[in-house]
Amino acid sequence: MKTEILPTAPDVARRGASVFEAQARARPALVMALPTGRTPVEMYEILAARKRSGELNLSAATAFNLDEVLLPRRMPQTFFQFMTRHAWEPLGIAPERRFIPDGETADPEAECRRYEEAIAAAGGLDLAILGIGADGHIAYNLPGQAGPRTHVVTLDAGTIATLGGGLTGPLRAITMGVETILSARSIVLLATGASKAEALRRMRDEPSGGAWPCTLFRDHADLTVIADEAAASQL
Ligand code: PGA
Repeated sequence: MKTEILPTAPDVARRGASVFEAQARARPALVMALPTGRTPVEMYEILAARKRSGELNLSAATAFNLDEVLLPRRMPQTFFQFMTRHAWEPLGIAPERRFIPDGETADPEAECRRYEEAIAAAGGLDLAILGIGADGHIAYNLPGQAGPRTHVVTLDAGTIATLGGGLTGPLRAITMGVETILSARSIVLLATGASKAEALRRMRDEPSGGAWPCTLFRDHADLTVIADEAAASQL
């Protein structure tokens, strides 16, 4: 894995946006895997400003969400709501090219298969933008719950708490799997803040496939980790 260490979180957002934009210019019909979370918000804001000024056109791009919680879509904790507010609308992703697992499905296993088929039908992923959890999870490939393809996971209490709003479990989610994500031609992982420092160190140093799911991603041929100094402090 290639690592770029920048002074601050805003620097990481700017760098992530610039990699994103370069890829979108090179391939207007870019097929992307996109994250939710605190980390990518500023990158999305930069990209939204570029869209508003007419310098970035994502109208032909396709966005697949990395994951979704199994909750009614109207709830503010869903990634459907997050993406609508922070990415799909402000970046101008065409409604018919916004993909996210259906968190209201009565048959999550079938929904996982359908999602994999949709990614394949779009021609596969060109670019995956990722975050990383303090416990080393990537998308919702949680410790002990990583899987090869899109699958259902049960969120632990700590992960549920990150969704906010006093939500309590039990709660399941659908996530792209490790192979799904690794099938992307290019991967960018954004990490900011001291809470991610241990996960980044273990991603680099732990034996692959143990308690740290992030280790399953590090050998991708085109993976760039963009980290601020706090997140990179143990590297
Ligand atoms: P965060 O989430 O960006 O809110 O820290 C990262 C993740 O859980 O993947």
